[in-house]
Amino acid sequence: MLAKMLTRSGHRLLGDQPPDGRKYWASRFWDRDLAERDPILGDHYRSQKADLATVIEKHAGHTDRVIEFACGTGEFTGMVARLTTAEEIVAVDISEQGLRKTAARVKHPGLRLVHGDFWAEHDLGTAEVVMCVDAIHHLGDPRQVMTRMKSFVRPGGTFIGNLWTLDNFHEFQRQRYGTLLHLGRSALFLGGALAIKASGGRLRSSSYRTRLLPSREIPQLLSSVFGEVLHICEDRYFVSFACRVDG
Ligand SMILES: C[S@@+](CC[C@H](N)C(=O)[O-])C[C@H]1O[C@@H](n2cnc3c(N)ncnc32)[C@H](O)[C@@H]1O
Repeated sequence: MLAKMLTRSGHRLLGDQPPDGRKYWASRFWDRDLAERDPILGDHYRSQKADLATVIEKHAGHTDRVIEFACGTGEFTGMVARLTTAEEIVAVDISEQGLRKTAARVKHPGLRLVHGDFWAEHDLGTAEVVMCVDAIHHLGDPRQVMTRMKSFVRPGGTFIGNLWTLDNFHEFQRQRYGTLLHLGRSALFLGGALAIKASGGRLRSSSYRTRLLPSREIPQLLSSVFGEVLHICEDRYFVSFACRVDG
């Protein structure tokens, strides 16, 4: 309850200001293998992976080129390499450590790894399939992020991704960190939000690196950004989807 109040107050202070966790993410890698081994939350990550494998096979199996944003350690890059006919896979991430793990994990002759910020220009071109797993909500305001991602999808092509939701966020965090630590992290988040607000947005806080939406807003958001929603699957903590980009 208190954690909820703290984060709600923080978000009220932040208003429309998008999250900026670039420094945070660039200095580490996100360990999906560890997340999947979590005794309570691991099931959700594994079921997400199974769902996305079905979506990739069904909606992205036959493609020449895939661009993946925020590939992390390459779990889904490897999936694309195994499950699609792509001759070229472009995988982008701001984490050098993550990209090194992707290079070790994914053996594909057409793999191109791009180290850099999603918002920077990297001459990536376009692709029939663009994908981003577990990161849209970290990259900025979800609508702005997906609108930019859409610009990399060829007309008639497919976007595959997911969004973590606000619905059961506090339950998830309590299970992940324990009640006390979650409370402390929520207080830190509010402190960061205060600093961002007081500095007129000049200061950054790594505590503010996620922008979550309630799941009820997601279908409408997807159709307004991409066009047709081909698949949508709701978990307790996230929503996975595939969309066709208007031709
Ligand atoms: C939760 S992890 C997900 C990684 C991977 N997609 C997966 O599901 O295993 C979020 C990823 O987003 C990357 N990231 C965060 N901000 C970024 C940015 N501005 N540009 C590129 N990558 C970014 C992080 O480095 C991290 O690998």
